[in-house]
Amino acid sequence: MGNRVYIETWGCQMNLHQSEGIGGVLEQAGYRMVPTLVEADVVLFNGCMVREKAEEKLLGRLGAVAEEKRRRPLVLGVGGCFGQIHGRELLARSPWVDFVFGVRGHSELPQLIARAERNGGRFCDLPAVEREDEIPFRRATHVQAMVTIAEGCSNACSYCIVPLARGPMRSRVPARILAEIEEALRGGAREILLLGQNVNAYGVDRPEWGTFAGLLRRVAACGPERIRFTSSHPRDMDADALAAMANTRGICRHLHLPLQSGSDRILRAMRRGYGRREYENVLRVARDAMPGLNVTTDIIVGYPGESEADFAATLEVVETVRFGTVYAAKYSPRPGTAAARQVDDVPREVKEERLARVLARERAIAAEENARWVGKDVDVLIEGRARDGAWMGRADDHRTVVALGEAAVGEVATVRIEKSSASTLEGTISPAEGAVR
Ligand code: 5AD
Ligand code: SF4
Repeated sequence: MGNRVYIETWGCQMNLHQSEGIGGVLEQAGYRMVPTLVEADVVLFNGCMVREKAEEKLLGRLGAVAEEKRRRPLVLGVGGCFGQIHGRELLARSPWVDFVFGVRGHSELPQLIARAERNGGRFCDLPAVEREDEIPFRRATHVQAMVTIAEGCSNACSYCIVPLARGPMRSRVPARILAEIEEALRGGAREILLLGQNVNAYGVDRPEWGTFAGLLRRVAACGPERIRFTSSHPRDMDADALAAMANTRGICRHLHLPLQSGSDRILRAMRRGYGRREYENVLRVARDAMPGLNVTTDIIVGYPGESEADFAATLEVVETVRFGTVYAAKYSPRPGTAAARQVDDVPREVKEERLARVLARERAIAAEENARWVGKDVDVLIEGRARDGAWMGRADDHRTVVALGEAAVGEVATVRIEKSSASTLEGTISPAEGAVR
C-alpha cells in the first residue's frame, strides 16, 4: 500500500496539536501528508466527543470514507476522544474502520498502520498510560507554536466527557515543556500557546514542579514575543497567576475563562466550584491589573433544569463582562457523564432560541467594543494572508486584524485601524519607523 496519509481533526486545540504530533511521527516514518481523502492510502480521524452535534457530523464523515473504501483499498484509523470513548464498540458498529486508537500512544501509529495493512484483523489500541516520547511536531504554522503543559483534567463538571476521555490531569515535566518551547523558537516561532484542559491547575499533581504562575515566568524567560494559554478554570485563576500574567513580558492581554452559566443554581448543578460573584471578582482583579484585557468565554445554554430566570442571569453576566467572543453551545447529554443521568428537559426550540439570544447580544457588544479601536494603532502579529491580498493577524488581545500594506509573516506590524465589525478590525500597516520603503 502507498504512503499518503490524510488526517482529519475535530474538536479543540489539544486535538489540533496532537494531530501535529501524529503528522510528525508519520513523516519521520516515511509517510507523506496529503490534504484530501481522495488522495490518501491511509486515513486517520482524530475525533471529538464534546457535543452530540460534533459526534453526528463525524459519523457522517466516516460514511464518506466508507464509500471511498468501496472503490479502492485504504486503511482507516479512528482516534482522539471519539476513539477513546467508543473503543471496541466502534469496530463492531462500523465494519469499515480498520483500527481504533485514542488520545495516547500516538508515537506507535506507524506500527498500528503497518499492522492494519498486514491485515492482521481489526483492532483497538488504547494504552492506559502515555510515554513521554519526543514527538517531532509537524506544525501547522511556524508563527504560533502550541505546547502542551498538562494532559487530562481532574475536574468533575457534570456535563463534560473530557475527564472520561482523557483521564485525570497529569502535568508535564517543566524541562520538557521548556525544551519544546526553545525548539519552536529556534524554528522561528513568535508566539507560544500553552495548552491544557485546565492550565491554571498546572503542578497541582506535582507540587515539586511549581505552579502555573511559576511556569509562565519560566516560559517568558525563553523570550518568545508573545505567550498565550488556554483554557483556564475560574476557580483556579488565583492572584499569583493573575500577577504573573500582568507583570511578565510577552504574556498577551487575553483571558479565555469559560463561564458556562451565570446562574448560581446551574453552576452548582454543573459542579463548577464557583458562583457568579466569584467569576466576576476574578475578572475585576484581572482587569484592574491589566486594563484592556480581552475576556472570551464558553457558555452552555439549556442545561437540564435551566429556567428562563437562570438564562437571564447568564445574559446579565454577558452584559456586565462584555466578552470579546462567546463560544456558546446547546447542552447535549454525553455518555457516562453525571448530567446524562438527568432528564434533558429543556426543549430544543428553547435551547435554540436562547443560543440565538446570547449570540446576538454578544455580537452587538463585540461590535461596540471593536468600534472603539477605530483611529487607533494596534500591534499585529502577522499570521498569513486574508482575502484580496490583505494580511491577517492578531492583536495582542486576540482580536483578528486584517490589514493592507507591506509586512511579512511572523512580523509584528503596527496597524492603524480604519474599520471594524463584530469579528474583525481592518486597517493599514504603518511603515516601520526609520524604514525606507
Ligand atoms: N454540551 C454542550 N456543551 C458542552 N461543552 C462541554 N460539554 C458540553 C455538553 N455536554 C462545552 C463547554 C466547554 C466547551 C469546550 O464545550 O462550554 O467549555
Ligand atoms: Fe473534543 Fe474535548 Fe476531546 Fe478536545 S478534549 S477533542 S473538545 S472531547
